[in-house]
Amino acid sequence: MALSSGLDAYMNSNAEKVESHDSRRMKVGIIGCGWIAEEHVKSYMRQSDVDIVALADIIPGKAAAFAERMGVKGARLYNSDRELIDAEKDIDCVSVCTYNRQHAPCAIYALDHGVNVLLEKPMCVTLEEAAEICRAEKRSGKVLSIGFQPRFDGNMKEIKRIVESGELGKIYYIQTGGGRRRGIPTPFGTSFIENETAGLGALADIGCYSLDMVLNAIGYPKPLTVTGYKSAYFGTDPNYYSAHPEYAAKFGVDDFAAAFVRLEGDIILDFRIAWAMNIDTPGDTIILGTKGGLRIPSTNCWNGFVGGPMIIYHEVGGLQVETTIPIIETKANLFDLKIRTFLDASRDGTPAPVPSSQIIYNQAILDGIARSSDLGHEVKIEIPEI
Ligand SMILES: NC(=O)c1ccc[n+]([C@@H]2O[C@H](COP(=O)([O-])OP(=O)(O)OC[C@H]3O[C@@H](n4cnc5c(N)ncnc54)[C@H](O)[C@@H]3O)[C@@H](O)[C@H]2O)c1
Repeated sequence: MALSSGLDAYMNSNAEKVESHDSRRMKVGIIGCGWIAEEHVKSYMRQSDVDIVALADIIPGKAAAFAERMGVKGARLYNSDRELIDAEKDIDCVSVCTYNRQHAPCAIYALDHGVNVLLEKPMCVTLEEAAEICRAEKRSGKVLSIGFQPRFDGNMKEIKRIVESGELGKIYYIQTGGGRRRGIPTPFGTSFIENETAGLGALADIGCYSLDMVLNAIGYPKPLTVTGYKSAYFGTDPNYYSAHPEYAAKFGVDDFAAAFVRLEGDIILDFRIAWAMNIDTPGDTIILGTKGGLRIPSTNCWNGFVGGPMIIYHEVGGLQVETTIPIIETKANLFDLKIRTFLDASRDGTPAPVPSSQIIYNQAILDGIARSSDLGHEVKIEIPEI
């Protein structure tokens, strides 16, 4: 198969590389010491040029307990992102690992104080917040990268290479999404299901990954309109939670969403995502083009892999044939690649590995689905001026 030569620079580079070639040490802070911060810290600790100098969490004692548990020695501890940013004048980078509602304020404050930001996914909750983050990034001239580590998986990169090779022809229809039969994320409390902390549910939590998998492959065309739907039949049912029926009353987001999105370039995106549903999968991801179709077996792409070997349906010499793409093994840890590429971009002042200029379109779709669902009709997506 002919492969494209026009991939993003970092996609073409040796993506397995996790070692820095620069000896200057980077000072890093962690904002939000919850579940995902552990993965950030483990990856930073595997880098030879990083000192984790500061940790912040708004829950009293949480940063200290985190430092102890993770073996982060000598880090200064703070009670909020602002305290950390105000005190650490020479910090290079922060990872923003707060719940979704605190993504925008923390990222904007750090950027406005000249700090490079690795912001966890989803970018934030609303499109207007995403625009505010992009404006802060522009004002600061600093690096802002969004935490989509599945992009570094070899199979995910292969999807992009297949599209860019021209093998599928002009893309006109995409079906994507996925989800779990039962899987509302409450192992560490309710920060994913309360409106005050999460803002959006399955739609943003795992939906953002499904969108990124296909939109990144086709070059992130601008979204134009969306008809969206979301519901919360499982999360609001006390019987759903065996150990914590009281969570039902706290559930303030969606556990299922579906949408029909028009993208620039006459492309239709058909999307559905679930934290809980009465079926095992809402289907495979399919990308239809004028010359070929790609089937990506139903995938928990948020875990950084495809659901099985991908198949291209195309014609060869007038015959309808199928080409199976073997699973590609990615040896390096995807989190290490996400952290390393962010550090390199921050140190060298090069473009962000997962740029906000793309992810604002991802956020625009999430925002459009939520708005359309609330209004009960199709809505236009207007990308704000940055
Ligand atoms: N990339 C991935 O694979 C992945 C996986 C899981 C979660 N996430 C994302 O990471 C984010 C955090 O998820 P989590 O599971 O760690 O949540 P969590 O609720 O366990 O942790 C978030 C922490 O942030 C703290 N916090 C909130 N506002 C703060 C502020 N202003 N300053 C300092 N601390 C603050 C909270 O007190 C909490 O301890 C979410 O947006 C989630 O979508 C990403």
